[in-house]
Amino acid sequence: MTTALLEIQEVDAGYGETEILHGVSAHVDPEEIVVVIGPNGAGKSTLIKAVIGILKPTRGEINFRGARIRGRDPEDLVHEGLAYIPQVRNIFPNLTVRENFEMGWISRRRTFGATVRSRLLPGAGRSREGGGEGPSAAATLPMTEKEEFDARVGGIVAIFPNLRPKLRARAGSLSGGEQQMVALGKALVLDPILLLIDEPSAGLAPRLVTIIFDKIKEINERGTAILLVEQNARRALAMADRGYVLEMGRNRYEGKGEALLRDPEVGRLYLGG
Ligand SMILES: Nc1ncnc2c1ncn2[C@@H]1O[C@H](COP(=O)(O)OP(=O)(O)OP(=O)(O)O)[C@@H](O)[C@H]1O
Ligand SMILES: [Mg+2]
Repeated sequence: MTTALLEIQEVDAGYGETEILHGVSAHVDPEEIVVVIGPNGAGKSTLIKAVIGILKPTRGEINFRGARIRGRDPEDLVHEGLAYIPQVRNIFPNLTVRENFEMGWISRRRTFGATVRSRLLPGAGRSREGGGEGPSAAATLPMTEKEEFDARVGGIVAIFPNLRPKLRARAGSLSGGEQQMVALGKALVLDPILLLIDEPSAGLAPRLVTIIFDKIKEINERGTAILLVEQNARRALAMADRGYVLEMGRNRYEGKGEALLRDPEVGRLYLGG
């Protein structure tokens, strides 16, 4: 009997006839932060796509919270508590920051319990604490949902205070680092149990990489498990509980983040000496 939150067992997956992952295994325990590193083309993004169901593995098992999820669709898995931030094109640049969060919110789990009364909003769009950013699509939702959405947005801007004055700005007009924060926020609005993040530091200046990594650590410390794929291997391993090295679609090394960082062979081969 396993206690892993996510368990990937000997998965084969690829694109059409081309198999990219060959028997890859990995797991994430509850509240862990686990990093997958490896050279370009190793299959890191492919692995994450296989977990979230964008790719259907041809062999192996994937279990989330004890249930088999291999072959299930991403929309469905989001309801189970998974969220995914792709490596590229992870926001809607022409929507505002707040509307981006609404797009995340639309795919939320619909498990409002019997205790929730269906109150209608007495004054739709009125200014509310933590959500007084003016009228928006969410203002037309029943009160309970709007309150919950506003509370989630409040939680997101508590983590990313510099997004607070930009909620009504076009997401595409923000800096690269801020756009990555919007992508994180859009996933966090779902309050996921496990967040899958593909290369959040790609294309960012070193100073911004530090900020984004600190934020990911903070999100993890607030109780969200994280599976993170990163090229920025040293920094990622430094904050990870555990890590995996993939190479050519196969498991190469695994261990605690610090242990992999200290391993001379891993250092020489994957961390630039
Ligand atoms: N949509 C696709 N169709 C066909 N082959 C693909 C597709 N996406 C990726 N591949 C191939 O799969 C292999 C692994 O790609 P993947 O994106 O998983 O690598 P990665 O480890 O994430 O690399 P990087 O660090 O560059 O992001 C590569 O050889 C790539 O060319
Ligand atoms: Mg990739």
